[in-house]
Amino acid sequence: MSEIYHIPAMLQETIEGLNIKPEGVYVDVTFGGGGHSRAILDRMHALETGDLKLENGHLYSFDQDEDALQNAIDDERWTFVHSNFRYLRNWMDYYGIEQIDGLLADLGVSFHHFDCPERGFSFRFSAPLDMRMNQTAKRTAADVVNSYSEEELAQLFWLYGELKNGRGIARNICKARAQRWIERTEELVENLTPTLSSREGGIHILENGEIEVPAQYKKDLAKLFQALRIEVNDEMGALREMLVAARDLLKPGGRIAILTYHSLEDRLVKNFLRSGNLEGTIEKDFYGNILTPFEIIEKGRTACEEEVERNPRSRSAKLRVAEKHG
Ligand SMILES: C[S@@+](CC[C@H](N)C(=O)[O-])C[C@H]1O[C@@H](n2cnc3c(N)ncnc32)[C@H](O)[C@@H]1O
Repeated sequence: MSEIYHIPAMLQETIEGLNIKPEGVYVDVTFGGGGHSRAILDRMHALETGDLKLENGHLYSFDQDEDALQNAIDDERWTFVHSNFRYLRNWMDYYGIEQIDGLLADLGVSFHHFDCPERGFSFRFSAPLDMRMNQTAKRTAADVVNSYSEEELAQLFWLYGELKNGRGIARNICKARAQRWIERTEELVENLTPTLSSREGGIHILENGEIEVPAQYKKDLAKLFQALRIEVNDEMGALREMLVAARDLLKPGGRIAILTYHSLEDRLVKNFLRSGNLEGTIEKDFYGNILTPFEIIEKGRTACEEEVERNPRSRSAKLRVAEKHG
C-alpha cells in the first residue's frame, strides 16, 4: 500500500473558488485522502468569529471506496458518506439538508488506487483485472474485457481513451479471449502490444510484480486502462447524475468547484456549467439574454508550473468554478 494516499491538485485555488463561509453547508463528493476536505474545514475554523454560529457549518464528504475511511477527520462538523456521489440528493434528504453552500468534486481516482497493485488500476503491476473503486460492486474490468462485444470495446476505447487504434485493440482482445478468459493486467498488456510478446522473452514481470513495458507503449496503455476504469465505474453516468443534483441543491450564491482530468468529463462539466443542463443547450430569453443558473467564476484553470513539477499528476487537472445565480 502506498504511503501517500493522495496529493490534492490546485488545493489553494479550489478552496478560494468555493468562497467558504464558516456557517455554510459544504459537500466534498470525492474525499479520497481528505486533503481538500481538511482544507475546507480549516478555512471554516479560520473564519470563525465570535458572532458566527459554527454549529450550523458542516462538511459532508463522500467516497465510494471504503479505503478512504483510513483518512477520517476528527471534527464534529464532518460526516463521511460511504456512497457513490450519484446518490447525493438521496443522502442530503437523509440528513435533512435542503440546500448547500458549496460542492467540490475532484474527479477520478486517487494515487492510492494506482499505487495499490492488487486493485488492478495500473498497467505497471501484475494483478487481477479489477479496477472497481467500490470494492463491493459486481462488475470488474475482467468482466468488461471478456463480455463486451468487439464493437462495444472498440467504442469505449475510442470514447473514453481516445485510442486511435481502438478497433485493432478490441480485435486482439477478442482473439485472445477466444482462447481463454483474460483475467490479469499482464494479459491485457500483452494484447495491446503484440510486438512485445514476440520480443525475446515477451514482456517481463519482475520478482516484485512490476511489469516492464517499453516507454513507447506507456501512453496507449494509460489510455486503455483509463477507458476501462471509466466504464467499470460508470464514471460519466455518476457525474451526470451528481451535476443535476448539485445544481438543484445549491443555494443562490452557492459555489460549485470541479476538477477534471480528461477531455470527456471536462467537456461535460464545461457545457453543464455554461448551460445548466446535461445537453449543453443554451436557452435565451425574448431579448436574447442567455438563461443559465450559473455565473462562471473559473473557466478551466490549470496547475502552475511549480505545482506540476512538485506533483506531476496535477498536469492534466482543470478547475472549473461556477456560482449559482441569486
Ligand atoms: C482524485 S481523488 C480525490 C482526492 C481528494 N480530493 C484529496 O484531497 O485527497 C477521487 C476520489 O473520489 C472517489 N470517487 C470517484 N468517483 C466517485 C463516485 N462516483 N462516488 C464516490 N466517490 C468517488 C475515489 O474513490 C477517490 O477516492
